Amino acid sequence: MPTDGAGVRVARTRHWAVPFSWSFSPLSNPHIAVIGMSGSGKSFFVKTFLTRANVSFGTRALIIDWSGEYVPWVRQSGGMVVRLGPESLNLLDLGGMSPSMRTSQVVDSLRLLTDLKDFPKERQWVRLAVEMAYALGRFSPSQRSSRRAPTLLDVLAWLKLQAKKQNLSERSVVQSAYHLLRPLCLPGADFFARPTSFRLDALLKSGLSCVDLSGLPSESMRSLAGLCIVQFVREAMRARGPCEGRNLDLMVVMDEAWKICQEDGDPVAIVREGRKYAFGLMVASQNPTDLSPVIFSNVGSLFVFRTPFSDSLDYLQRSLRFGPDVRNDLAQLRQGQCAVALQWADHARSDLFFLERVDGEGLLQWIVLEGTGMEWALEKSAVFDGLRADGVGEDRLAVLDSFLNRRNHVVDAAHFAQALQECGLSREAIRQKFKTAGLPDDQVAHAMAGLFALSLPSGKRLAELVLVP
Ligand SMILES: Nc1ncnc2c1ncn2[C@@H]1O[C@H](COP(=O)(O)OP(=O)(O)OP(=O)(O)O)[C@@H](O)[C@H]1O
Ligand SMILES: [Mg+2]
Repeated sequence: MPTDGAGVRVARTRHWAVPFSWSFSPLSNPHIAVIGMSGSGKSFFVKTFLTRANVSFGTRALIIDWSGEYVPWVRQSGGMVVRLGPESLNLLDLGGMSPSMRTSQVVDSLRLLTDLKDFPKERQWVRLAVEMAYALGRFSPSQRSSRRAPTLLDVLAWLKLQAKKQNLSERSVVQSAYHLLRPLCLPGADFFARPTSFRLDALLKSGLSCVDLSGLPSESMRSLAGLCIVQFVREAMRARGPCEGRNLDLMVVMDEAWKICQEDGDPVAIVREGRKYAFGLMVASQNPTDLSPVIFSNVGSLFVFRTPFSDSLDYLQRSLRFGPDVRNDLAQLRQGQCAVALQWADHARSDLFFLERVDGEGLLQWIVLEGTGMEWALEKSAVFDGLRADGVGEDRLAVLDSFLNRRNHVVDAAHFAQALQECGLSREAIRQKFKTAGLPDDQVAHAMAGLFALSLPSGKRLAELVLVP
């Protein structure tokens, strides 16, 4: 492992302060797991790592972004962002696969969104309907790129037709299959039933791209979308053929995407095949037990940020067999510090060793305050420095930081005022901060009225109380 400039510079080691740079070549595979509690520095590390891997190895990155937290950074870096919700992803797209292979994946993945797993007879009808949708579109592997892919609407239409044709007992099964799928095709919830509105191949070719799943209305929809993207990546990697010994071409990042990493499915297959095809998988999670044990025990590199929870520590201690001192150190790590364990190509996994704070790229970050019909951008580090000068402690700043991260740094002025109040600032201090930040008087007054409404007991809004006779 290089300890000089070759590879991806990460940080200095705790002992001897040796610069540690990461490279995949001596490791069993290029996959990386990043563990650590909220705010410990996982996403910061991922961004720093991807930036430098691009410089060192020309590695492209595709981020499957659960909560939209990477969007501002990807935009700032000139990457491609696809926001699912406004954009749609046709579940029946082939992504280079044969209709029969895709049919199995579609039926399997529909279990994430419907109760199909509890209805084996309905599942068989859905399988048949998907097969027919491909067949009626006359899809053959040679034609598949030139024809419009069928959609779930075609599947539904075929089931409706069959419901009329079948005898009484079978008809109720077909109708039940129809009703299980129908919610996915209703206007407003039809993200997977509309034709794909973006270029899947462009995602893989762009230097940095991000699929933002936060606009989808449920966890299960996010899981399904993430899973589909991984399936298409896997197919693209197979279609390109093996390139053993070559560079690391693409890193697929799944931050918080633990749901699709639990089962023995496609992410696990990428872990098994990635090295052969020069693809890497980077998974980040707050809890190591959220990841599939296959992924956890096979990744070439494991970065552990602050982990104070005993169930996570028990799991890490069992898997990595370290003593109580290391356990204690993992619980005490400061933001940005981590421990690393590497799996060598020809040896067992290395012992954990500790790194000082990940040495990141200090990008300017903005907080966007939304008023009534207007927006203001505040430079984040200046806001935080100001709060520190006002005596706000690091623990409260960490809560504020995670509040801002969850909202991609775009917040309504009244909610921001409420967050400042929770940092211990008085209403007058908040009013002054807004005025110093350049908000006009009417906007400050509006934000403060909003704060008052938010602070009312039992969640009642001001308007409701005013209306009480
Ligand atoms: N090495 C570092 N150097 C400077 N700032 C850092 C470092 N690591 C983290 N930070 C800052 O700490 C904050 C929290 O970090 P980050 O968003 O990476 O946490 P996280 O582990 O991804 O949390 P979550 O699980 O909630 O997503 C961010 O504002 C980030 O800029
Ligand atoms: Mg994060």
